[in-house]
Amino acid sequence: MTPRPQTQLAMRPMLPADVPLLAEIFRASIEELAGEDYSEAQQEAWASAADDEVQFGKRLASELTLVATLQNSPIGFAALKGKDHIDMLYVHPSVAGQGVGAMLCDALEKLAGSRGANSLTVDASDNAEAFFKKRGYLARQRNTVTVNGEWLANTTMQKMLETGGAQT
Ligand SMILES: CC(C)(COP(=O)(O)OP(=O)(O)OC[C@H]1O[C@@H](n2cnc3c(N)ncnc32)[C@H](O)[C@@H]1OP(=O)(O)O)[C@@H](O)C(=O)NCCC(=O)NCCS
Repeated sequence: MTPRPQTQLAMRPMLPADVPLLAEIFRASIEELAGEDYSEAQQEAWASAADDEVQFGKRLASELTLVATLQNSPIGFAALKGKDHIDMLYVHPSVAGQGVGAMLCDALEKLAGSRGANSLTVDASDNAEAFFKKRGYLARQRNTVTVNGEWLANTTMQKMLETGGAQT
């Protein structure tokens, strides 16, 4: 039998039924991929944004949220807020370092371009800064934000998008 396309890495828009799994990916990725840069208390405060899954789902649904899947199961997601801000990019730790984040980010950059954005910004967590830097994002501003009673640092980064190629 020939392999079926659904056994491969794929990407699609978020569906309401994805929310519990996306919340799990969100928590697991913070817990396992951000530990070198944030304390346990900071990670818990950050991950608490998914405690209320209804609110978390509303936030994702209000943005352009893409889900990366492997054999039809969600393994990562990314959300574009408006036309030019990456609000979320999370990959499950079990598949980290395999190009899933890059695939999602590529897609958001194309979507931002097609929405008319000249540049794209992200408030990058310290652990994700090298990922974005590698993709051409430049650090613009250091921020400290309070999340659930904890102070967390991040960096606003910006990438200029190539214009002209987005429209057909
Ligand atoms: C940041 C994140 C989305 C990257 O996803 P990923 O699927 O592991 O990244 P990829 O495998 O697509 O990596 C793409 C490139 O970036 C590099 N890279 C990825 N994470 C990196 C890191 N933490 N430090 C340095 N380089 C990194 C990879 O080596 C790869 O380089 P290559 O193109 O030379 O092979 C993922 O680590 C994550 O979910 N982190 C926790 C949540 C988070 O902080 N999200 C960002 C919120 S703004």
